[in-house]
Amino acid sequence: MIKRLLFCAIACITFSTATADEGMWLPSLIKERIKDMRKMGFKLKADDIYSDKKASLKDAVMQFGGGCTGEFISPEGLLLTNHHCGYASIQKLSSVEHDYLTDGYWAKSRSEELHVPGLTISLLEKMEDVTDRIAAGESKEDIIARAIKGKGYRASIEPMYYGNQHYLFVYRVYSDVRLVGAPPSSIGKFGGDTDNWIWPRHTGDFSMFRVYADANNEPADYSIENVPYRPKRYLPISTKGVEEGDFTMIYGFPGNTQEYVTADAVKYVTEVSNPMKIALRTIRLDIISEAQSKDVATRIAYAAKHANIANAWKKWQGESLGLERLGTTDKKIAYEQEFAAWAAGNPKYSTLLDSMHFAYEKSIPGYFARELFNESIGGIEAFQFAYWMYMKNQGEKKFPADEQAKGRKRYLKDYNVQIDRAIAARMIKEFMTRMPKEEIPQQLSEAVENMGGAEAFAAYIFGNTKLLSTYPLTKDEIAADPMVQFASWMAPLVKKNRGYTYRNLSNVPTIEKWYREYMQALREWDKERAFYPDANFTLRVAYGTVTGYENVDGEYHTHLTSLDGIIAKDNPEIYDYNIPQALRDIYARKDYGRWGIMKNGSPTVPVCFLASNHTSGGNSGSPVINGKGELVGINFDRTWRSTMSDIEFDPAICRNISVDIRYVMFVIDRIGQASYLFEEMDVR
Ligand code: ARG
Ligand code: GLU
Repeated sequence: MIKRLLFCAIACITFSTATADEGMWLPSLIKERIKDMRKMGFKLKADDIYSDKKASLKDAVMQFGGGCTGEFISPEGLLLTNHHCGYASIQKLSSVEHDYLTDGYWAKSRSEELHVPGLTISLLEKMEDVTDRIAAGESKEDIIARAIKGKGYRASIEPMYYGNQHYLFVYRVYSDVRLVGAPPSSIGKFGGDTDNWIWPRHTGDFSMFRVYADANNEPADYSIENVPYRPKRYLPISTKGVEEGDFTMIYGFPGNTQEYVTADAVKYVTEVSNPMKIALRTIRLDIISEAQSKDVATRIAYAAKHANIANAWKKWQGESLGLERLGTTDKKIAYEQEFAAWAAGNPKYSTLLDSMHFAYEKSIPGYFARELFNESIGGIEAFQFAYWMYMKNQGEKKFPADEQAKGRKRYLKDYNVQIDRAIAARMIKEFMTRMPKEEIPQQLSEAVENMGGAEAFAAYIFGNTKLLSTYPLTKDEIAADPMVQFASWMAPLVKKNRGYTYRNLSNVPTIEKWYREYMQALREWDKERAFYPDANFTLRVAYGTVTGYENVDGEYHTHLTSLDGIIAKDNPEIYDYNIPQALRDIYARKDYGRWGIMKNGSPTVPVCFLASNHTSGGNSGSPVINGKGELVGINFDRTWRSTMSDIEFDPAICRNISVDIRYVMFVIDRIGQASYLFEEMDVR
């Protein structure tokens, strides 16, 4: 009893009132939060943030590509996002002679702005609660069809609170987007994977693009006739800087959180899913890193792949530690006990938790199988290519050379067969030891046994496949290829796994349906709690303050880093810390002009800052807006210890990391020599 009360004491504090900093709020409902925001220093009104009648801040914010945020900073369609969000585009435009990733790029005039094929940005025209319309019998398809009014329209209906509510989102998609500028990677990616998720941080993680439209400001395919898009709203830039305690608002598209899940879901993450994913990625990263350390060309070829694998790998470790430290599972159990006591007297909900628990038990094996497959055999590049070839080779249809070429380009980009073979040997083995015997395709078990182990099997398929060496292949050659056969054995499993392709375990429909009731019940029961829908890559507002945090007992991490920290890390011998000579020269001269500040009594340039906004993956590139509605930074990361905020937000420790807009301006001006771009901005 005492234990339970104690748990409740903890749980009720943590879960009952959303603190000011927790929450990713729907912009169209922001009036419910505006009082709180104003108390913290926001000076504008709710309809300055969101309105579908007049221009508002939402018109300055966009989805950038398929997973980032960006913001307009001029009346002529100029936008900012992160360097890591523009990375693939910059890479696509680069060649050996023009290596914009290494050297950076600055268009000296509009005609030098480089169109990025395939890159789009989406502007939210409006969002609307359509729950009642759906309840009244209107079909989602009809609602969407009615919302699409012409060229470039995209609409979708997104569930909130596990489908208790549905919102319609209507976007205009612009496909003529051009690279305007990017710093060299030694600034835009400074610190690389070493500093990723880490504070103190010194990354100039920004890049600049421009959106083009037709003469009527409408979306148009790329054409030299197109003109800069004129946004309804753009953000003025404040060069006044940020102080500890200042209000900040992040406006952007967080991708995925699960704040309301039960203990079963947390346990799955901490005890099953994360440990498996971390272990398998550690193996892959070790193999890649070793090959990279021996050969410069390999280091470059596998840099992006390594960064991709390492990003989530590092995040999951921080998340698991954070959840453990917070005791999230135990707190959830206590919370659920309290809930159960209440629900016992309510026939509608009395068996709900049992139903949820049962649904988890039924779905975990399938969901785990999918995750395990993706992280093991799914991580073998040649397997991915073979699987694609296998699918394309089905049926009587011809499989022409140019089609095959597309696959080669996509799957064998920057490919290194030694790395992939080593990964395959380990991943097949891991798959077979971690997967329940009866789930392993029989052909694979037999082949591995006959050949005397996964390593020998991998050597065999890599030694005999023509996929990597010969092109084009006939349909028969493809069908008989050992790598393709391996893929064909796995196909039934892949198909079965597809039934579990949901963002999170809790979104598997047999589980999710109970969450609809659970969310209703929580709102009836936990009246003090401020509810906001989990992130789902729809537009949200998070607000907080600029602030440091106690990292470990007695060690406080202050909110602002500076050029001095970059110089301290600078080391030409270490790839991640080798800065451009120009930056060293500027530092030597202390020639900072209007971008200089005084820190600890000496002149320097601000670089990154911390704040307490609740953000997640997808918030990369989001504007950091001050109390007056001005741009003070660009969000690009969280601290490692705060990554559990996707499941539980801890106001004491959760911090987002932004690049200070003054550093962005400094780099444009002093490294890019591109201060002419300031003319179209509103720099205050
Ligand atoms: N951690 C940031 C995010 O989740 C930045 C990732 C890109 N940077 C990197 N070094 N991999 O996306
Ligand atoms: N870097 C992340 C992104 O690409 C944002 C960091 C986070 O997960 O908060 O969206």
